[in-house]
Amino acid sequence: ASHEFCDAGMGYNVVGCGGSDSSSRRILIKGGTVVNAHHQEVADVYIDDGIIADVKPNIKVGDEVAVIDATGKFVMPGGIDPHTHLEMEFMGTDSTETIDDFFSGQAAALAGGTTMHIDFVMPVNGSLSLGFKAYVEKAKKSCMDYGFHMTITKWDDTVAREMEIMVKEKGINSFKFFLAYKGIVMINDELLLEGLKKCKSLGALAMVHAENGDAVFEGQKRMIELGITGPEGHALSRPPLLEAEATARAIRLAGFINTPLYIVHVMSIDAMEEIAKARKLGQRVVGEPVVSGLVLNDSGLWDPDFNIAAKFVMSPPIRAPGHGRALQAAVSMGVLQGFHVVPENTGKSAFGKLVGTDHCTFNSTQKAFGIDDFRKIPNGVNGIEERMHLVWDTMVASGKISVTDYVRITSTECARIFNIYPKKGAILPGSDADIIILNPNSSFQISSNSHHSRSDTNVYEGWIGKGKVEITIVGGRIVWENNELKVNLGSGKYIKMPPFNYLFDGIEKADVSYISSLRAPVNRFKAMQ
Ligand code: URP
Ligand code: ZN
Ligand code: ZN
Ligand code: ZN
Repeated sequence: ASHEFCDAGMGYNVVGCGGSDSSSRRILIKGGTVVNAHHQEVADVYIDDGIIADVKPNIKVGDEVAVIDATGKFVMPGGIDPHTHLEMEFMGTDSTETIDDFFSGQAAALAGGTTMHIDFVMPVNGSLSLGFKAYVEKAKKSCMDYGFHMTITKWDDTVAREMEIMVKEKGINSFKFFLAYKGIVMINDELLLEGLKKCKSLGALAMVHAENGDAVFEGQKRMIELGITGPEGHALSRPPLLEAEATARAIRLAGFINTPLYIVHVMSIDAMEEIAKARKLGQRVVGEPVVSGLVLNDSGLWDPDFNIAAKFVMSPPIRAPGHGRALQAAVSMGVLQGFHVVPENTGKSAFGKLVGTDHCTFNSTQKAFGIDDFRKIPNGVNGIEERMHLVWDTMVASGKISVTDYVRITSTECARIFNIYPKKGAILPGSDADIIILNPNSSFQISSNSHHSRSDTNVYEGWIGKGKVEITIVGGRIVWENNELKVNLGSGKYIKMPPFNYLFDGIEKADVSYISSLRAPVNRFKAMQ
C-alpha cells in the first residue's frame, strides 16, 4: 500500500497508517449524559470493535477496557455534515482546487466533533462514472466515514443511465443541480425537469443550488459597469431576490413533478419564506441552512483589506445583519424543516432539521485571483471544523434549542434524510461508534493559527464561545483528546446510502390524486357530449 500520506500531516499525529493501531478496541464511557434526538439520560456507553454494544446505567467491565469518565458532560452522536467540497476543482483552473482534501478536511472535522460528511462528486466532462472514480481515488486518504452526492451538469441518455447506476450500484441517493454559475455548471429548467423526473423514479433526493444564474450574470455586469470590482460587488450583484426567485421556481417545478426537494445553503429570509410557504402547503421540501449563513453577516465583505473581504465570498452571499438571526429562528421553530417533530421510529411524515457547512476552502493566494475582479474570486468558506461548536454556542448555549434538538440538527436528521439512520446519527446498541464528548463548561476559540484546515484564513477568526468537544471517537477509536489529533489514515469507509428515504413515503398517492383530478374535467366533458 502507498504510504505517501504517512507524514503528510501538518502537525497531525498520524497513527496506524492504512488501518489498525494498538489503541484499545473496547471503551467504556462512564457517567455522561447520553443524548439522542428523541431522548437524553445519564448512562454508560460500551464500545466494542467500532460498534456501540450497550447503552445503560452502571455497565460493569473488566480491566482490559479503557474507561473515559464523562461525568458532567454530554455524550452525543458525532456530527454529520451534509454539505462539503473537499479537493474540488471549481470555477475554472486546477489552481482553484479547494485546499482541503479528504485528509486535511476530515482531520479538521474530527477535531471539531464531526465524524462523517457527504461530499459532492463533480462529474468529469459530464461523466458521472468518471467523476465517481476520481472521488473514490481522492477519498482513499479518509480517516472518517463519508458518503457522496452527485452533481448533474448536463443531460443526455448516458447521464440518465448513469444516474441509475449511481443509485442502484454505487450507493448515491441524491443529485444536485446548480441554477447558478452560468457558463460553468448552471443548468436550465428543461434539464432540471428531466433531472427531477429521473430522481423521482429512482427514489433519489433532488438538491438545488438556488440562485437565478442569468440574473446574477446581469447583476455582475452592472457592478463592473459601475466600477465596483471589489468583494462587496459579489454580494451586491446577487441579492436575496435572486435566491428567492430560484428557490420558488425549484419548489414549484418539484411540486409539478411531485418529488421531494432539498435546497442547499439557504442564506436569506426571502428564500426561507418560500420554503416555509411550500411546507405549510404540505410540500416535501427541506431547507438546509449553513453555519456561515446562520452566524455571520455581510460586513466582512466591505473590509478594506482585500484578503479579509475575499475570504467571506461564497454563493449565495452571506447576507445583511438580520438574515442570520431569522434563519436561526427558523431552525429553532422548525420553519425550515420541522413542523412536526416526532420520535424517530414513527417519524414517517416528519420533516427534520439539519445544518450543514458548505465547507469549500480556498487560501488567500487562491482568493487573490479575483483581486481586480470579484467575479474571479473562488467562492467558498470554511466550516467543517467549526460547525459543531458554533451551533452549540449560538443555539444551545443561548437557549434557542435543547440539547436533543442539537443532536437532531447536527447529526440525526442528516442520517435520516440520507437514509443511513440508525447506523449513523444515534447512540444506540448496533450503531457505529462515532461519538463526541462535549463539556458545556469549557470554552473554544477559533483561529487560523490553531485550526486543522490547510487554509491560511478562517471566516470565524477570533470567535470565542461556550461548549467544547473534548473527545472525538470515530469507528470506536479515540482520535481527538487533550487538543491532540491522532487520525487513522485510510481508516474511513465509504457509506452507501440507499434510495427512497422517508420523504418519499406515500408520495405515489399524490400522483394518483393528481391524475384523477386531471381526469375529472375530461369525464365531465365526455358526459356532456
Ligand atoms: O460558494 C460556494 N457555495 N461554493 C461552493 C459551491 C457551492 O455553490 O455549493
Ligand atoms: Zn502508511
Ligand atoms: Zn452551491
Ligand atoms: Zn456547496
